[in-house]
Amino acid sequence: MTTAPHRKIVILTGAGISAESGLGTFRDEGGLWARHRIEDVATPEGFARNPALVHDFYNARREAAAKAAPNSAHHALAHLQQTLGPENVVIVTQNVDSLHEAAGARNVLHMHGTLAGALCAHCGHRWPAPSQMTPDTLCPACNGLSARPDVVWFGEIPYFMDAILDHLAGADLFISIGTSGQVYPAAGFVLAAQEAGAQTIEVNLDPSATSDQFDETILGSATQTVPALVEHLLAGHR
Ligand code: APR
Repeated sequence: MTTAPHRKIVILTGAGISAESGLGTFRDEGGLWARHRIEDVATPEGFARNPALVHDFYNARREAAAKAAPNSAHHALAHLQQTLGPENVVIVTQNVDSLHEAAGARNVLHMHGTLAGALCAHCGHRWPAPSQMTPDTLCPACNGLSARPDVVWFGEIPYFMDAILDHLAGADLFISIGTSGQVYPAAGFVLAAQEAGAQTIEVNLDPSATSDQFDETILGSATQTVPALVEHLLAGHR
């Protein structure tokens, strides 16, 4: 007797899933990009121009992230993964907070890096970021003064892309949660999933730039929509 192949679910999350944990999004009213210029705080050129300003920006986000707790949407995704198995539920996030892990999710692919990591721009060494980084933060490997947050800035190559594209190529279901669909390559994942024949569902507070590319859009806040969707999936309703 052949058992039905496990269903492969690939989930992409954005800042919207952490909004109800108190972490700001980027493009909503009053969001991070309304208060900071991307070119000053989220590009290699901005960091070269004024590293102290960039460290201040990420120090504040690291501090806020350290105080935040995962919400019921993070917990629902972790529960889905624990129930179906991490090989069948892959979580890819654009977020640099660690709230998926705090909720119990495993093998989360942080395509934009994490606030928890520090990287030496000189020797490439990675280590756990101190709570506050400054231009005087020394790299513990080369003792150089090129420490930066291990996050992916505009113009840089996102992490884990080969693995992510492999997962999408084998996906039966792709779920996008809490992202405006304005930043590539993440905004293009829905098309890659569809090419693989996957069903695609978008879960967001408002319609996104790519809503029309999804089979289904569920509008509402993540803490309302995600637990209900996970319940449906585990009951075999989708
Ligand atoms: N529940 C669900 N969705 C929400 C909620 C909520 N409580 N609050 C906001 N949203 C939705 C908004 O409607 C919006 O579409 O989350 C989305 C957040 O969009 P952005 O602020 O653009 O964040 P994101 O899509 O994650 O940005 C992608 O851009 O600046 C870069 O590197 C940064 O990873 C980030 C990337």
